[in-house]
Amino acid sequence: MVKYHVNPKTGEPGLCGAQANNCPFGGGDVHYPTKEAARSAYEKTMAAPAFNFKPHLTAISRKTASYPAKNFVGGHLRQLVDSGKPSRLLDYGCGRGTDVEFYRSFGGGEVYGYDPHWAPAEPEGQFNVVAMSYVLNVVESKEKRLEVLKKASASLAPGGEMFVSVRSHSTIEKEAAKNGWTPRGDGYITSLQRGTFQKGLTEEELQQLGAEAGLTDLKLIKHPDALTLSGTKIS
Ligand SMILES: C[S@@+](CC[C@H](N)C(=O)[O-])C[C@H]1O[C@@H](n2cnc3c(N)ncnc32)[C@H](O)[C@@H]1O
Repeated sequence: MVKYHVNPKTGEPGLCGAQANNCPFGGGDVHYPTKEAARSAYEKTMAAPAFNFKPHLTAISRKTASYPAKNFVGGHLRQLVDSGKPSRLLDYGCGRGTDVEFYRSFGGGEVYGYDPHWAPAEPEGQFNVVAMSYVLNVVESKEKRLEVLKKASASLAPGGEMFVSVRSHSTIEKEAAKNGWTPRGDGYITSLQRGTFQKGLTEEELQQLGAEAGLTDLKLIKHPDALTLSGTKIS
């Protein structure tokens, strides 16, 4: 069947000559039966209010806890629990809650999860540990990322530790090239129909966000496809 797409670099619609699912500009959700339909869908996508962001649909069903939960946040929580120090943990943007269950399995302290879609009741009070895993990379602009990080870090008790994990810039760039994601803002629309977006962060971008959000003693940990920034709050 004849299919038309739009070259995101030029904004022009054209006939797709790629073999099945091999088009550099995207999969079935960005191919249309006519040039006009391709142009119209592209224009709608590019007009910010017309693109219906649904970041909650990026939350996967995890079989086990996430890499940062197992390797960094969990270890920190265990130290607090074992040393009898206060250990109130908030998983901010917890998605379907697999990491929350993992932290609760430690059997010490209090563990809460918050997510605007999956767990919308905002827990009250301050927390000694705030974890935010793979949230900033689904948020569609730098301004909004900073807003989200500031809001999450506002829940930290003085001296508390924050762990912010994001998918790395290089990983997202590779996936975008492989899957033909459509560029948007400083990231990519990963599915038009689902309304999902990804922006991989560089080490500098993540550190800058941490500093702008008022976190100090910043430490960057690199892992295979992602980055974790830890930082504390002085007051
Ligand atoms: C990729 S999922 C990660 C979920 C979970 N942390 C995990 O690692 O499995 C991104 C999550 O960020 C949440 N999210 C999006 N915008 C948010 C915001 N402004 N504040 C808090 N969470 C947000 C979404 O609802 C979604 O569940």
